[in-house]
Amino acid sequence: MNSIRINYAPSLITKRQLSMNLSRLTPSMQRMRAAASRKYATDYASLNLPVDRGSLGRVQKLVKEKRKLNPTLIVVAGIGGSNLGTIAVQEAVLGASYNLNGRPRILYADTVDTHSIGFIRKEIEKELRKEKRVILVGVSKSGGTTETIANFSILAETIKRHRKDYRRLIIVTTDKGSRYWSFARQEGYAVLEIPKNVGGRYSVFSPVGLFPLGMLGIDLSSLLKGAAQMRKLCLGSLRNPAAVGAATIYANWKKGKTIHDTFLFAKDLESLGKWYRQLMGESIGKEKDLKGKKVFRGITPTVSIGSTDLHSMAQLYLGGPYDKYHSIITVEETGPLQRVPRGKGYGALVNHVEGKTLAAIMDAIVSGVKAAFIKGRRPFNAIHLPDRSAESIGQLLQLKMMEMMHLGHLLNVNPFDQPNVEDYKIETKRFLEHP
Ligand code: PA5
Repeated sequence: MNSIRINYAPSLITKRQLSMNLSRLTPSMQRMRAAASRKYATDYASLNLPVDRGSLGRVQKLVKEKRKLNPTLIVVAGIGGSNLGTIAVQEAVLGASYNLNGRPRILYADTVDTHSIGFIRKEIEKELRKEKRVILVGVSKSGGTTETIANFSILAETIKRHRKDYRRLIIVTTDKGSRYWSFARQEGYAVLEIPKNVGGRYSVFSPVGLFPLGMLGIDLSSLLKGAAQMRKLCLGSLRNPAAVGAATIYANWKKGKTIHDTFLFAKDLESLGKWYRQLMGESIGKEKDLKGKKVFRGITPTVSIGSTDLHSMAQLYLGGPYDKYHSIITVEETGPLQRVPRGKGYGALVNHVEGKTLAAIMDAIVSGVKAAFIKGRRPFNAIHLPDRSAESIGQLLQLKMMEMMHLGHLLNVNPFDQPNVEDYKIETKRFLEHP
């Protein structure tokens, strides 16, 4: 198996700081190791998803059944933790432009945007009128998220109007016993369970991500194999990538780096950056610490795409305040390489560009950025993926989730709850009741 390579050396923390922070992670490591043998009984439940053969088997069975229907379109109605991981893996492995040529296509119904849901509805109708099949997956852990239920209702009723066999085309993924669960059962839809204690932002390896990704033909076993390999590594010695990652982010936060920028030098990984944005935003952005004291803690996650955003943000990153810690993520290019032609005069426009592959030019840009960061004493870590395979992406996602659990411990906040997200959800329901 090709492993991802990580370099924390440019994070500009001393060996002493690193050792100190790592030793502070001992209780967190102990909790993780204990949780590894307790299935879904603890807050760390998601750690056990990559090795849950039963869950994988159930998802694969349903995927096999639904793929036999030969659907041309998959629609996922879900938001936040209920679709960000799916989008991240889909775009990383199949490409952000997958829908242009890939079949079945996939569309995501997340926010209640009249225009975009209207578009998805028309696409569903178009397929159904052509006698093609569409699969709608409603995903909501709580089963009560306003946007998801509103979008699901519109799209499900559209399918119902066109197809007598609509029950075969609609699937619901939710917590066992939620109202959505009972509703789906009553309607006769297939239901997939999100294991207890697996929070939305940690649920990509549960049926939440696995079912739609499997419908697209992504190799679920490889995805989980990569995640399981990282899990094993990070449950091993204390000096593991997740713990070192958390220790370096924490040390930089203590030095005033309150912004964490995920700088992805591959366009198809942008959604992976957005998945991480939720993971960091919700896990450690907290009003109260573990003792209930008001601390208003957090690190603001941002996402940059290289080299595109160098042309809008490099000035700030290299000349602005020393408040950022970057995670530079690169990928080995394994597909057909694009090359700048020789002898056509392009060398006169940009020196040394003729005959170079775009991958080589990107490498030069990444090396240039790293050198400039080092020169300017701008801290960063570097992660290199051997390819865009499901296995490599599985490793990276698992690493980041375990890193976040450790970071919560270092920052003395609960990385698993999101009480203030609930605040706005409750307020929204009040306004719906009394507009
Ligand atoms: O991470 C979280 O808990 C949230 O972002 C949720 O995923 C999001 O609000 C959607 O919630 P649900 O899956 O319950 O519909």
